[in-house]
Amino acid sequence: MRTPLIAGNWKMNLTLREAEALARQVADAAAKYNDRDVLIYPTFLQFVSVAKATAGSRVAVGVQNCSAEKDGAFTGEISASQAKDAGAAYILLGHSERRHVIKESDSFIKQKVERVLDQGLRCMLCVGETLAERESGNAEAVVLDQINSALSGIKPDQWKLISIAYEPVWAIGTGKNATPDDAQKMHATIRKRIAELNAAIAPGIRILYGGSVKPDNIGAIMAMPDVDGALVGGASLKADSFGDLIKNAK
Ligand code: 13P
Repeated sequence: MRTPLIAGNWKMNLTLREAEALARQVADAAAKYNDRDVLIYPTFLQFVSVAKATAGSRVAVGVQNCSAEKDGAFTGEISASQAKDAGAAYILLGHSERRHVIKESDSFIKQKVERVLDQGLRCMLCVGETLAERESGNAEAVVLDQINSALSGIKPDQWKLISIAYEPVWAIGTGKNATPDDAQKMHATIRKRIAELNAAIAPGIRILYGGSVKPDNIGAIMAMPDVDGALVGGASLKADSFGDLIKNAK
């Protein structure tokens, strides 16, 4: 059985005080449901405070990125081992804003995946196609290439640390989301590819959907058999809305 996971990606939003207050409210909301997992990704600067604010609750806290390097002279970077030392439960990698705005390549993301797995930390790998790639009929090929590039060759005992977030680029922050059927189709394709890479792990791996998920559409998307959770941006920034996402995510 795959426990549903509702993850809030706070991106570059909120003041420290706002982040702490929201984290406490999310912890209160999460306490009402023991059949679903809740995760938040604050900024690096807010990570420690948010982790303190949610300590002892059902909410896990992760970071939105890490360096592709182990340690050393990389000004402005944060390593996977530092994220682990600070208590991060997950590291989010390959988000479309990092792929398309910061121009991270597949091979660079692969290096980061290795750094995270070296630390024994959980890696949530984001994949997704652009609108042009979807319209030209290449969505599945693009997503499968991203999966292959990031995950082929990882050690058998590291697979348990992996989860996937399918986030079509055209659906992020646009108010347009994939239909539940479209999401299901891509999630099933992803799970099939994971089965080809590691048959034993595929039935248990969590595949989240992201892209304009809101309290009023999360239920229909998560009702799909291969959708195991949601990675939410905008709608995770308000306590009421995050609470409703958790409540409706069944
Ligand atoms: P929105 O929910 O704002 O579309 O963002 C999705 C996302 O990028 C989560 O990582």
